[in-house]
Amino acid sequence: MSKDVKKIALLTGGGDCPGLNAVISSVTKTAILNYGYEVIGYKFGYRGLYNNDFIPLDLSTVSGLISRGGTILYSSNKDNLFDYSVEEEGKFVKKDVSDVAVENLKKEGVDVLIVIGGDGTLTSARDFARKGVNVIGVPKTIDNDLGSTDITFGFNTSIAIATEALDRLHTTAESHHRIMILEVMGRNAGFIALESGIAGSADVILLPEIPYDINKIVEKIESRKKHGKLFTIIVVAEGAKPKNGEVMVAKIVKDSPDPIRLGGIGNKLANDLEDLVKDREVRCTVLGHIQRGGITNTYDRILSTRYGVGAVELINKGKFGSMVCLKGNEITYDSLENVIGNNKQVDPDGELVSVAKKIGISFAD
Ligand code: F6P
Repeated sequence: MSKDVKKIALLTGGGDCPGLNAVISSVTKTAILNYGYEVIGYKFGYRGLYNNDFIPLDLSTVSGLISRGGTILYSSNKDNLFDYSVEEEGKFVKKDVSDVAVENLKKEGVDVLIVIGGDGTLTSARDFARKGVNVIGVPKTIDNDLGSTDITFGFNTSIAIATEALDRLHTTAESHHRIMILEVMGRNAGFIALESGIAGSADVILLPEIPYDINKIVEKIESRKKHGKLFTIIVVAEGAKPKNGEVMVAKIVKDSPDPIRLGGIGNKLANDLEDLVKDREVRCTVLGHIQRGGITNTYDRILSTRYGVGAVELINKGKFGSMVCLKGNEITYDSLENVIGNNKQVDPDGELVSVAKKIGISFAD
């Protein structure tokens, strides 16, 4: 046990994700039951840290939390305290207010801040570590695009949801001889599309990492028709784009450190395909935030619990400025300096793409 640590704080930042509550529960239980630390949770991510808005976390607060999606601490994807919008003389100006957060931590006697987030939230965690705050990161995102860890928590639940959506689309596609497109999330990484596409038996998978040729999709549809399959299932990542084309931007979120929200490629593809495949209808389903909501699956409950325990153990080892991660089947850690700027993408020449190709799935490349 680290003798100097008496009180720790948690915050959850960025888009919510299945497993956040399981991490909150695991950290709180491990900290209280094993080390007698006092635990508090800041509300709405870094905004709560700036406003000194927190709740105490004890065993009764986290009881029954492991399965629940979302975050009891709430979250925000807008509040970067190193570039924060503050009102001065009636006008909003951007300022570095990180010193206010550091003062609040001191005032509350917080010795360690555990930050649960994706790359935006963890970039600020790294910046607080650079300012001398004792920070530990926990890797969250359904996109699975964070560097240094094999898997982020939340990813497994989201691919299970996307796979179920593909299973459900199969039966209706077959009944109507339709071409069904499922647009899934993932930002600039295609992990959700790739893994749900294999598990959900998609005929075509379109990824940000492999720009597609629409004629190759038509070829696949026609070749299935020759073999008596009059329906086709396509899973498209929101960050996918045609060869020589651009990604589709759905929305710009002002004040977000990463303001671009992708989306729309599924419906664009449906329109483009209807011009080329005249004898069948094309429909698009956008899975959206359903991929992030609801209960956390078994895999993510266990991974989140391991990450929570691992984060508290890093406190005891004094490994501040680092992120707990999974390598193979081992819980380990890496410096936040290494994590940030090293986002992952699907390797177009990697094993999973090759496995998919070998079982006849087209990437339209
Ligand atoms: O990073 C998680 C994620 O769900 C992405 O897959 C998606 O692009 C983005 O967040 C959506 O963000 P928002 O919740 O702001 O719509």
